[in-house]
Amino acid sequence: MNVHVAVQTQAHRLDSNTAAFARDVLDGLTKPQKELSPKYFYDDTGSELFVEITRLPEYYPTRTELGILRDRAAEIAALIPPDAAIVEFGAGATTKIRLLLAAHQVAAYVPVDISGDFIITQAEALQRDFPQLAVHPLAADFTKPFALPPAVRDLPKVGFFPGSTIGNFEPQEARRFLESARDILGRGARMIIGVDLEKDENVLVPAYDDAAGVTGKFNLNLLIRINRELGADFDLSAFAHRAIYNRDQHRIEMHLVSLRDQSVHLFGERIGFRAGESIHTENSYKYSLERFRALAQQAGWTPARCWTDADAMFSVHAIETNGSRV
Ligand code: TRP
Repeated sequence: MNVHVAVQTQAHRLDSNTAAFARDVLDGLTKPQKELSPKYFYDDTGSELFVEITRLPEYYPTRTELGILRDRAAEIAALIPPDAAIVEFGAGATTKIRLLLAAHQVAAYVPVDISGDFIITQAEALQRDFPQLAVHPLAADFTKPFALPPAVRDLPKVGFFPGSTIGNFEPQEARRFLESARDILGRGARMIIGVDLEKDENVLVPAYDDAAGVTGKFNLNLLIRINRELGADFDLSAFAHRAIYNRDQHRIEMHLVSLRDQSVHLFGERIGFRAGESIHTENSYKYSLERFRALAQQAGWTPARCWTDADAMFSVHAIETNGSRV
């Protein structure tokens, strides 16, 4: 039976999220280069492991970006009008936005994220600490067009997209995301974006393959999740985490490599693996300052300013739309 039919016939017994997960997994594992979507990393365990990753000695992006935001808060704040609404795409913890809010008063803050519960708790805590700020959390998939809350429609908009999450998009998707952000934020908007920089492989690879093995656990958790939620039988001891720097494509790739010839079963399908064959789970694209500026320009934005740390590990860009606000 063809895999799609197999899932269709069994999917009616699954809720729609699980059915979509099952379809994505089967689609990905039947491609010539097997792949799984990184959006499934973040169940409860995955989210906790990710927080652990951001604190690892090898994982420089989080602390370097926080350092830039802290050191340059006044200069960044100068680009944000006092009556602005800041719209954060993929808002999680409020650590980064707090650095900007502490340096500068704005009118409103709109954290946007697909996981509504988490941003609501975070928004409540932020509201307590910044009583003057109008906080409007929005549960939405920020990679697709969405409408801003009516209360902020007439305010100047500043998008905030930290964490080099833009690097987890394919360059085409990154461009489409920036175009869509321009449509959502409207004319005269600005955007503050964190972008990880290309650097020596000896620094890049350990950031995605740490000595304590936390990133490996994070990657393998995807298979645990597929076993638990979709009833598959991945043998976790027969797959290993690997991070590869693909210099030609300017990206770190994360893979799960099969350590032997083996079969995995899922919805009555047998998925074969040769020893050494991998499942590609995520990319993290790295940019030069010039290549990121070119990407922004292709998406209709004008690069305004950019800041890096002293070692040029990470960058924060300010970009603006052409044309004044209506
Ligand atoms: N966007 C960040 C990065 O690519 C965070 C991230 C996403 C990440 N997935 C990850 C970090 C997996 C480590 C491992 O660096």
